[in-house]
Amino acid sequence: MARFDNKTVVVAGASRGIGAAIAKRFAREGASVFVSANEPRVEEVVKAIRAEGGRAECSITDVTDKASVIAMYDAAEAAFGSIDISCQNAGVITIAKIEDLTEAEWNKVLAVNTTGVFLCCQEAIRRIRKHGRGGRLINTASGQSRQGFIYTPHYAASKFGVMGITQSLAKEVARENITVNAFCPGIIDTDMWAYNDEAWGKLLGDYKPGELMAEWVANIPIGRVGKGEDIAGVVAFLASDDAAYVTGQTINIDGGMFMS
Ligand SMILES: NC(=O)c1ccc[n+]([C@@H]2O[C@H](COP(=O)([O-])OP(=O)(O)OC[C@H]3O[C@@H](n4cnc5c(N)ncnc54)[C@H](O)[C@@H]3O)[C@@H](O)[C@H]2O)c1
Repeated sequence: MARFDNKTVVVAGASRGIGAAIAKRFAREGASVFVSANEPRVEEVVKAIRAEGGRAECSITDVTDKASVIAMYDAAEAAFGSIDISCQNAGVITIAKIEDLTEAEWNKVLAVNTTGVFLCCQEAIRRIRKHGRGGRLINTASGQSRQGFIYTPHYAASKFGVMGITQSLAKEVARENITVNAFCPGIIDTDMWAYNDEAWGKLLGDYKPGELMAEWVANIPIGRVGKGEDIAGVVAFLASDDAAYVTGQTINIDGGMFMS
């Protein structure tokens, strides 16, 4: 029997990068996986999972919109029955000097990264409570939940917020056999990091594409960039029975970048 047989997992922000890797990992370990994102590309993840013999469905969902979030969980329940595990992974970033950072950027990053986690957790808890068997919530934080990086006060605020949501909700639902944890990716090779490399590179010096990333990776104790699979294994652990006594935690998955 596979670890997540008979479990239904929702992964928001799963059209690519970290979210797609998490979804594929759960599917390989037996789960029925409902993936969503705010772009049609999420259908490719469903196709990839089915091509490997897994079970997957998807929706186009904007995690900043409560009605859209409710519709996502409705569709997941209609497809697979009750929800056991929900991963709040949708995220966006922009990089700008304080004099150039617009209020619209501030609001957008907070809306997706923090309000989106709140809305998904709220709805997931409501669904998990209905069946009473408990469940797992896993939120995507960031190295920027540990320390704000330059030119990203809005992103740092949004990801510190994810850690706060995680701790507060963990206390509220602990007696219902629902755990709430978060993880902090370091430098993971995704579209988001390609943007980071370019945008930070422009503001921090005369970097060519890939140079800033290489410089930062050289300072990571493990000495390599992270992959989606590095994240997915830890998320699967947090969702498993082995993590039944772990809640309210925010775990670094960053090759040793942060050690706290
Ligand atoms: N890549 C890294 O190094 C890194 C580091 C720290 C934290 N993170 C976090 O990990 C998560 C995934 O990042 P990634 O690198 O895979 O990024 P990515 O840009 O490759 O993917 C982001 C995903 O979020 C989805 N998304 C964006 N806005 C959305 C919205 N309004 N509603 C629903 N979905 C939306 C996108 O469609 C996509 O599926 C994010 O929360 C990000 O902040 C990434």
